[in-house]
Amino acid sequence: MTALLEVTGLSKRFGAVVVADEVSFVIDIGTCLGMIGPNGAGKSSVFNLIAGTLPPDGGSIRFDGVDVTRVPSFRRARAGIVRAFQIPQPFPKLTVYENLLVAAQYGGGLAGSAAEEWSVAVLRKFGLADKAELLGGRLTLLDRKRLELAKAVASKARLLLLDEIAGGLTEREVEELAALIVELKRDHAVIWIEHIAHALRAASDRILLLHFGKKLLDGPPGEVLSSPVVRQIYMGLAADEAA
Ligand SMILES: Nc1ncnc2c1ncn2[C@@H]1O[C@H](COP(=O)(O)OP(=O)(O)OP(=O)(O)O)[C@@H](O)[C@H]1O
Ligand SMILES: [Mg+2]
Repeated sequence: MTALLEVTGLSKRFGAVVVADEVSFVIDIGTCLGMIGPNGAGKSSVFNLIAGTLPPDGGSIRFDGVDVTRVPSFRRARAGIVRAFQIPQPFPKLTVYENLLVAAQYGGGLAGSAAEEWSVAVLRKFGLADKAELLGGRLTLLDRKRLELAKAVASKARLLLLDEIAGGLTEREVEELAALIVELKRDHAVIWIEHIAHALRAASDRILLLHFGKKLLDGPPGEVLSSPVVRQIYMGLAADEAA
């Protein structure tokens, strides 16, 4: 059986800066892969390569059994590869429900009552039903992040690429977000780049360490986070502070 996402020998450099050095990994629905690495390691660039906003120098990306290495980003999004960013950007003048409806229609390709029913189901799933009529721009930061993830789900994402989405949240809110990601990974594959080790540990099944574009480790969270390699790379910090 093929995995949902298969990255093989992915390579990319900007002049002397190597952001992906023969990176290979697979991920399936039901799994959250945490990604760590120092600033500039190439984590966001790997997301750009997977999402198709950056062309690789070498290697291949297969999604759902199809080689998408040369497929444009909008087609990959349609196929279910969806990114979420640190700063969520809901349509501020649309309500929460309308935001989801737009995602269901334009991302998910649904129309009419199918789009409406799907949007209501996603609202409920994310605990946003009582905020359905609020404007997107009026939500708290945590709810905007919830809405960002809900929009991805409404657009029929299958692989979620989450790039440091916990930024700006309180400790308790980060825990809520991690719990939400645990829920999400039941029906999705998730790759979560984050610098907060305990949040990654809570949600991830594996953690991948990237350094100068090279995959140095890919294994169980506890093992990776306490590895001497991680300690060394983060210059002697305790592993739990480090990632
Ligand atoms: N389009 C680009 N052109 C040239 N250099 C780039 C480009 N995009 C990224 N880089 C460089 O590639 C390196 C890796 O950047 P990237 O954003 O992928 O790192 P990162 O691991 O996400 O870091 P951070 O933890 O700071 O978000 C950096 O040195 C960056 O300056
Ligand atoms: Mg980054």
